[in-house]
Amino acid sequence: MHRAKIAILGTGYVGTANAVGFAELGYDVIGFDTDARRIAGLRLGIPPYREEGLGEPLARHLRNGRLTFVTDLAAAVEDAAFIIIAVGTPSRPDGSADLSHLDAAVESLRQIATDRPKIVVLRSTVPAGTSDRIAAQLPAHYQLLFCPEFLREGSAVWDFLHPDSTIVGAESDHAAGAYAGLVRSLNAPVMVTGRRDAELIKGGANAFLALKISFANEIANLCGTLNADALNVLQGIGADRRIGEAYLEPGIGFGGPCFEKDVQSLEHVARNSGSPSHLLQATLRVNDAQPRKVVDILEEELGDLRGAHIGVWGLAFKAGTDDLRSSLALRILDDLHARGATATAYDPAIESAELPGRTSIARSAMEAAHADALLVLTEWPEFCDVDPSVLAARLRRRIVVDGRNVLDGERFARCGLRYRGVGRSAVPDSDGAAAVGA
Ligand code: UGA
Repeated sequence: MHRAKIAILGTGYVGTANAVGFAELGYDVIGFDTDARRIAGLRLGIPPYREEGLGEPLARHLRNGRLTFVTDLAAAVEDAAFIIIAVGTPSRPDGSADLSHLDAAVESLRQIATDRPKIVVLRSTVPAGTSDRIAAQLPAHYQLLFCPEFLREGSAVWDFLHPDSTIVGAESDHAAGAYAGLVRSLNAPVMVTGRRDAELIKGGANAFLALKISFANEIANLCGTLNADALNVLQGIGADRRIGEAYLEPGIGFGGPCFEKDVQSLEHVARNSGSPSHLLQATLRVNDAQPRKVVDILEEELGDLRGAHIGVWGLAFKAGTDDLRSSLALRILDDLHARGATATAYDPAIESAELPGRTSIARSAMEAAHADALLVLTEWPEFCDVDPSVLAARLRRRIVVDGRNVLDGERFARCGLRYRGVGRSAVPDSDGAAAVGA
């Protein structure tokens, strides 16, 4: 059977998940990257980052020959019918997207263009209008699509294989039909739009999810002030199907390489187009302020952070990943340091890292708990399995501030710990006094 050949440019989170995902669908896939070390690792079946569900299919498709990795771009694209571009588009200091990796990839493609027609599929997140600009730079027999991805780190391969929809931004029916055919076995509804619409669907989707989180955090902060329980309140709000319960979990704010960058980029585009977005600006402002809230709670509890030593559970921007990019835990460590505290951190996915305030890294949750108070910053399930009575024996001031609302506050309080969550209702502590959420 003829299996369409797909070249993937970029082996970051999106590129690698796409490579494995398309191999799972039965296609021959060649992954390309300029990073020779990364390619050497991938050839050996070593995932470049921690990702649930990636290692096994990666190894399997290397063995059955469906997946190959190269550092030679010409070799990657030579026989490919589809060329997927999945290079990084990070933020510039002014919030605009840095498209230098994308421009370099397109320039390299132009240099080695063959006279065979190809479909180029842009999957990197880009500001509206970028695809049209790139399309104009490609040879006329190369057709460009913009097909956004909705993959979450930590479950990217699963998300690839179970999409809610496939958005195809196209200016040609032929190319749109070809891509729809490529992903037919995913059985997801396909929506064909113009490329610019598809770019705004991606930016808008991430912005809306981020907006929901900022909304949840504002409501939680209000619940804290009014002594209500944010978990009940937000669950009740989300029970209305028009609103939906997803992305209403309050905490330390949204981190990671996507939300902040994409909201900044859309806000930048909106501002430059003459119709600034107040909602996007507010989403970012709320998120900037949220990490301070948990440090404020800690300070309230300890009286003064100067000279205090804080145990920190969790560094990654969310559970299921070892990614520290735009992790708000780092901002919180900075803030602790600025307020005069020192910290020891533990994260099950991170063995070493250069952390703000010369924070040291512990090898277990309990080792990090040799401290005055504990701060939970990532929602790793293993933290919920900790025996609070053992923790109570370690923590000098017996204070736990749960920035992710994942621990069972009442159980902790029964063991003599003072438990504070984000926007959580009062939990009696060991002395029967009320510990109130922020
Ligand atoms: C996000 C989107 O969810 C994906 O659909 C998208 O494809 C991806 O960005 C991207 O643009 O590449 P990701 O950043 O991997 O995925 O992670 P999420 O699970 O969405 O979480 C983002 C941040 O929001 C994390 O810090 C998480 O802890 C936080 N979050 C999430 C909350 O604080 N509350 C919630 O209710 C949900």
